Amino acid sequence: MRTKGCAAPIRCSSLHVYFVSPRAGQSEGGSVGSRQFCQRRVGCGAAVQLEGIGYGRIHWGNEEDILTDNNSYYRFLAGAAALTGARSALEIGTHWGGSARAIARGMKDGGKIVTIDVSSESDAVLPSCPERKMIQKIVGDANSLEVIEQVQSAISNVDMLYIDAEHSAMPSLVNLSVYLTLLHPKMVLLDDIALNESMARFWQIVRRAYPDRSINCAQVEPDIRPDGAAFGLIFP
Ligand SMILES: C[S@@+](CC[C@H](N)C(=O)[O-])C[C@H]1O[C@@H](n2cnc3c(N)ncnc32)[C@H](O)[C@@H]1O
Repeated sequence: MRTKGCAAPIRCSSLHVYFVSPRAGQSEGGSVGSRQFCQRRVGCGAAVQLEGIGYGRIHWGNEEDILTDNNSYYRFLAGAAALTGARSALEIGTHWGGSARAIARGMKDGGKIVTIDVSSESDAVLPSCPERKMIQKIVGDANSLEVIEQVQSAISNVDMLYIDAEHSAMPSLVNLSVYLTLLHPKMVLLDDIALNESMARFWQIVRRAYPDRSINCAQVEPDIRPDGAAFGLIFP
């Protein structure tokens, strides 16, 4: 209902074609085909209505300031959901719920997003937002047994896994390993892969594991993360 002008959803099985297409013109982790995929997602995200979605209290500069506008990568997330016809997602790192709401807007009605955060800051937004029926919040450490069990009760296999939580290598690697094993996501999105040295090491490890199935999308479409923090994509 909320997406306008997107092409028919691409089934994830056919998305794999992008990663086995001819390697000419390859950049880091990206064939010509995977570049087109990123560009299409941005284009598709541009057609999703994101009015009313803000990032909330910022994590940079004066951390008391509130960003009422959506962040640059929200369009990309919405486009990823819309273009692939995703119906289920796990997000690690809710904050105020802006990214979960953007994914929900890219999904069709009836989609489900489970989102985890150690903080309850999203309580001021999520219970009353228009997408609330699609979003389930879990409070706690995503890498704790208690939360892992709650996630398993809430959702089984997912179309999308989006990780945007503790921006260092080991917690991110544990996030990825645990939820890849348990939820078999069709695609994985990794925020802030160039934010610091530890995240850069994390991304290198991912690249070695998925050399033909991972890409830094911001290298293809810098508008996804104009601040240089980059944005990883894996088709596991
Ligand atoms: C950058 S913010 C997420 C922003 C949000 N995804 C968005 O784009 O609107 C990172 C969040 O991860 C949460 N976080 C950090 N470590 C975590 C952990 N171990 N488990 C769950 N959440 C965690 C923080 O509390 C913070 O709210």
